[in-house]
Formats: sequence, C-alpha cells, structure tokens
Amino acid sequence: MTTGSGSDYVVQMQPWLGEEEKKAVVDYLDSGGWLTEFRRTREFEQALAAYIGARHVSVVMNGTVSLFAALAALGVGVGDEVIVPDLTMIASANAVLLTGATPRFVDIDRATLCLDLAEAERRITPRTKAIMLVSFNGRAPDMDRAVALARDRGVLLVEDAAQALGSRWRGKHLGTFGAVGSFSFSSPKVITTGQGGALVTDDDALIAAIRKIKDFGRLRDGVDEHIALGYNFKFTDLQAVIGLAQMTKLDWRVQRKKELFALYRSELANVPEVTFVETNLSETSPWFIDVLVPDPATLRQFLHERGIGSRPFYPPIHTQAPYREPGSFPETERASRQGLWLPSSSFLEDRTVRRICDEIRAFYRGGPRTSA
Ligand SMILES: Cc1ncc(COP(=O)(O)O)c(C=O)c1O
Repeated sequence: MTTGSGSDYVVQMQPWLGEEEKKAVVDYLDSGGWLTEFRRTREFEQALAAYIGARHVSVVMNGTVSLFAALAALGVGVGDEVIVPDLTMIASANAVLLTGATPRFVDIDRATLCLDLAEAERRITPRTKAIMLVSFNGRAPDMDRAVALARDRGVLLVEDAAQALGSRWRGKHLGTFGAVGSFSFSSPKVITTGQGGALVTDDDALIAAIRKIKDFGRLRDGVDEHIALGYNFKFTDLQAVIGLAQMTKLDWRVQRKKELFALYRSELANVPEVTFVETNLSETSPWFIDVLVPDPATLRQFLHERGIGSRPFYPPIHTQAPYREPGSFPETERASRQGLWLPSSSFLEDRTVRRICDEIRAFYRGGPRTSA
C-alpha cells in the first residue's frame, strides 16, 4: 500500500533524486573511476563530519552493518547484553544479535517515543555492555541524563541515529553524544545513497578499529596482511557522488520536514482523535510525519482508497519471530497499536498536505471540511 498504483497516488515516502545526482553519476562514470570506495567516498565522509560536527566519519554499506561494526569495534560480543528500545526498526536489535550478544528490550517513554531511561537503568545487569539509544523520528530523551547514566554505570552509549540526520539536542547533533553514532542512507531517509550507513565518533582508536572491520581487518589499505577479523562493509564512490549531491540539498530538506510537520500539526489541531508527539521543531527534523490515532488500520485503508499512502509503526520488537519473549512494554504496545506515518516526502506540496488533512478530518467527522 505504501507505493500505491496510480501516478498521482501520494506515496508515504519516496527518495528525491534530481538533475544534480544524474549529472554527478554521469560525470563520475566519465572520469573513469573504479566505482569502489576511494576519493569521492572520503569527500562524502568529510562533508558528513562537517555537517554532524564529528571528528571522524566512516561510511559503510548500510545502517545495519554500521551498527554491527560499531558494536564489534567496541568489543561487544557473546555473553554481553545490550539494552535496546522495544520500539525501533528491527535492525537495531539484529545488529546486537549479529555480534553474539543478547538484546534486552526496554520500554519507551511516551513523551519522546525513545528509550525510557529510568527503566533502562533498572534493567542494567553486570552483563550489560552497552545501551543503544534510538533517536526515534529524530527525537531524543534527555541526552545529558543518558550520557550520565552510561558513565555512572560503566556501560557504553551507542546511538542509532538512522532517523536523525539533521536533528539536534540542545544544539548538538544526535549521534555525537555516545561512544559512536550510526546513520542510514536507505531510500526513505532524509538523504539517500540507495543503501548506505555512516559511523561517527570522536575517538581515534575506535574509528581505526571500525575501518579495519569494514576492510577485512587489513593492516593498511590494499595490503593483504590481516591484524584483526574483518569483513567487507565498504561503500562505493558511485554512491558517494550521489550522497554529495544529496548533501547540497540537506539544509533545505531538514527545513522542509519541519515545515511539513508544523503544517500537518496545525491542520489537524482540531481533530481530537489525532495526537502528535511533542516535537521541538527548532531541534528536531522529523524524518516521517508520525501521528497516534485510535484506529490506524481503518484510517489507512480510507486514505489508500483516496490515493494516499501511509505506513503503520513498527511492531514491538519483542513480538517478532527472532526475539519472541514475554514482557511488559505498555508504551511500546500503545505506540505500535496507534502509530501511523503519513506522507512525508520533503517535496510534498502544502496543498497536498491540506488535502490529506481534509481527508483525515472527513474520516473522523463523516464528511469533508475546509480547513480553518
Ligand atoms: C532506527 C533504525 N536503525 C537501523 C536501520 C537500518 O538501516 P539500513 O536500512 O540502512 O540497514 C533503520 C532503517 O530504517 C532504522 O530506522
């Protein structure tokens, strides 16, 4: 349902690639580059580092292996536990499992939809090696408290900031608070390279370990001597030139996401069934427009029949096949049950948002209404 069928179907999300990306790819191909990771990848990493405000950036194949590489570089493995919020994209938990460690799911805080820090503190055990904080839709908990919790309890803070490019907490970019932050450039993200992920850290030794893990554990670039266990998580210059072109549009997109969220919020302000999560738009650039409604499946079908795509929130991870376990996660269950992502492309026009909101009003009031 999210992709729709007709050409004027309003999809929930789509990447936005334009003439700049096309030209960048053609120019790159004309340059005789090898496609593989080289100079253009370094430029993309530098552009990201400057934007995010991190000392080091290493880009990899996607935001799942980036999380795995981060955890592996930090020494997380068999016998360790990692605290993961129960509401997240499943990759957050899968990356933990990939290292051989065990994810321990913790409920979210209703105010932010991010990890409940008080509950996380209660769930720390002697085996807890790290807390994975997920910036759900660009929001964050009290990051001073998260940093202090990790420091005081001697655990690592890893930030899954896949949904948070362009979002900050008290002026500091998300992904830069813990030992390492991870980003994703999959197609629905704020900027995309088709697939792609990035790790950010200020730690020289950690970035060296990450770079080894992503390149077969090589001693040096191009040298077949292996001083650690590594894999091939490398990026490509072909993706990097697209990423660099996308970066030139990032400021605008971040701003546009904020405007779209504000427009939806004001258009739907008088619909009591629709709840918005408190969002400080001076810092948060919502990746998706998220609302909580009593009956997302019925609303979704109604919108679909009117040519509008939407997407339900993730299910609680503890209910999914690889992890099925009992537990009490009332806030995650509530958000999963009620959450719906509305059309969120940064190039949606205001009049389309108004039409979507008219339809939502019609759904709840039994007939189309004009907006105030
Ligand atoms: C919170 C979160 N973590 C991890 C990922 C995984 O990223 P990727 O799809 O690039 O592997 C995603 C992707 O949507 C995500 O939203």
